[in-house]
Amino acid sequence: MTTSPLVGILMGSKSDWETMQHAAMTLKGLDIPFEAHVASAHRTPEKVVDFCRGAESRGMKVIIAAAGGAAHLAGVCASKTHLPVLGVPMKGWATEGMDALLSTVQMPAGIPVGTLAIGKPGAINAALLATSILSLSDTGIRERYLSYRRAQTETALQDDDLEMP
Ligand code: RP5
Repeated sequence: MTTSPLVGILMGSKSDWETMQHAAMTLKGLDIPFEAHVASAHRTPEKVVDFCRGAESRGMKVIIAAAGGAAHLAGVCASKTHLPVLGVPMKGWATEGMDALLSTVQMPAGIPVGTLAIGKPGAINAALLATSILSLSDTGIRERYLSYRRAQTETALQDDDLEMP
């Protein structure tokens, strides 16, 4: 039986995949069905719109949108679906991703985008936040997410074994 994707990852360019694969790996590790596509708000806007319009009817619950530079992908996604949209700013060719962060986070009131950190931490946290959202209505996902969190806490506690100089 194939499970239909619950999370859709969109990114503006294939060059974003190096970072966004961390979101994909995190979802895979938590056994969350997802799909990932390159779809750009300015290069392939129809693809973005078609994906977002059809997302709910295909069973998706959360969209993760990653873009760099003048990053409008997450905002465009949010304008075309009422599903939660999580934005991940990519580091681009200038300003270390601050341009994308501000573009993604500064949505005018009315069309929300939940914006995560720049780059890899944001990619991982977008996957975890998507999992948290899904855990509200799925006990299996809830258990897997709690188990992930418990393991992380355990690792952090064990890391307190510093060698003194
Ligand atoms: C954005 O421009 C993409 O999301 C990417 O982060 C950035 C650069 O894209 P490429 O020129 O590498 O395709 O649209």
